[in-house]
Amino acid sequence: MAEGTLSVTDSRTGARYELPITASTVRAMDLRQIRTDPDEFGLMSYDPGYTNTAACTSRVAYLDGARGVLRYRGYPIEDLAKNCTYTEVAHLLMRGHLPTSAELHGWDNELAAEMRLPPGLPDLIETFPAGAHPMVMLASTVAALGTYYPDGRHVTDTACRHRQRLRLLAKIPLIAALIYRRTRRYSRSEPRPDLGYAGNFLHMLWQGTSRQLGPQDLKVLAKALDALLVLHAEHEQNCSTSTMRQVASSEADPYVSLAAAVAALSGPLHGGANERVLQMLDEIGSTAGIPAFMRSVKAGERRMMGFGHRVYKNYDPRARVLQDFAEQVFETTGKNPKIALAVELERIALQDDYFVRRKLYPNVDFYSGIIYEAMGFPPEMFTVLFAIGRVAGWLTHWDESMADPERRIARPRQIYRGPGITAFVPIEARGRDYAEERPAAPVSSHGSVPSHRSL
Ligand code: ACO
Repeated sequence: MAEGTLSVTDSRTGARYELPITASTVRAMDLRQIRTDPDEFGLMSYDPGYTNTAACTSRVAYLDGARGVLRYRGYPIEDLAKNCTYTEVAHLLMRGHLPTSAELHGWDNELAAEMRLPPGLPDLIETFPAGAHPMVMLASTVAALGTYYPDGRHVTDTACRHRQRLRLLAKIPLIAALIYRRTRRYSRSEPRPDLGYAGNFLHMLWQGTSRQLGPQDLKVLAKALDALLVLHAEHEQNCSTSTMRQVASSEADPYVSLAAAVAALSGPLHGGANERVLQMLDEIGSTAGIPAFMRSVKAGERRMMGFGHRVYKNYDPRARVLQDFAEQVFETTGKNPKIALAVELERIALQDDYFVRRKLYPNVDFYSGIIYEAMGFPPEMFTVLFAIGRVAGWLTHWDESMADPERRIARPRQIYRGPGITAFVPIEARGRDYAEERPAAPVSSHGSVPSHRSL
């Protein structure tokens, strides 16, 4: 039901249009009727990076970037991080409601039954160079997992989707643990589903090594890791989730779609930032290094990693939870001295006109790495930990998009500014004269074949 209309007058023709407004949104396709003559393609909207484009309707996460609010299916993130296990939140996201004790028991059992890997997969991981980045290994292994489950291609079958979601949610921590072991050249470890989701992951990481945890430490760290996974579980249409939706829109199987999401997450402007925050703190060294660092950021020479967000123009609520949470974790692990430097860097940045004017605040990645490091994870594993948490969100969006009657293959348009039609020159005729005379400068789209007409 339209809330009203947007009245548009095209100054080129004087024509007036009424565009329906629904959910504070106009439909991009309604612009297409605006044209100067009937043969013209019609108006498009231009939005690099999708800064103001809603690509779908979703019922999963609510995010108010101006006020710093994040809720999963209506529940404030602060309440979920404090009170729920990760699998409980995964149930909320993937099944749509918080489970009863009996439902959670059943859900955990279903996941435990999937906590095993096809035998070829650990072999595959052992073929990767030990020095490779774990996120690259993760993307490759998740895609390869699909080779064992050809039924994953039946993406329009609800029951089949559920099977794939369980498999991926249960198996990814196992894969992540074996990838870590590969980077350390440790022999493979076997799962212990009875230790729970986070507990099994920690067990598999360090079993049989000098870092093997005793039962009490394992319990405490598993609880801390659970809360971190909850904080990372979902964040609506971020780069990796929208990548998963985009790849899946062609009805590709969920394994390759999720591998694409892992790839998107790995970049330093997205999930890869947590690793870079630690590098940045190491480079700054101490509070004495902050002024020089701030000068280089303000001169545009570098970015302050873990700061700024496309959507939050206020404190990222996850960063606030993490800052408090850090102190709790340090009670068990011992304090990470980098926390003092990070807090001071944040204090100075939040008073600086450069950051104030641009509304740049700490995001989830600013404090997470410091906690991960205190827990004993090496920096190259930080983004993998983020990925493990985000699997629930990715799979929820995948399922939601597959069931969406409005789903269409993702296929944006472009503004073409390349050459107009150009006479073909055979290779033997492309001599010196051709190199000097060939059109180099872009020409306007007028008079060229508009590629936004083509598929
Ligand atoms: N440090 C310094 N300046 C920054 C930063 C930063 N971290 N982030 C943005 N800015 C500046 C930009 O230079 C730009 O300034 P200008 O207007 O003078 O040109 C302005 O703020 C707006 O920045 P954009 O790049 O246009 O913002 P966008 O929404 O496209 O980017 C992003 C968001 C990628 C997160 C950006 O803030 C950034 O690079 N942050 C650092 C990397 C990071 O922490 N990423 C993790 C994000 S959270 C996540 O993905 C889980």
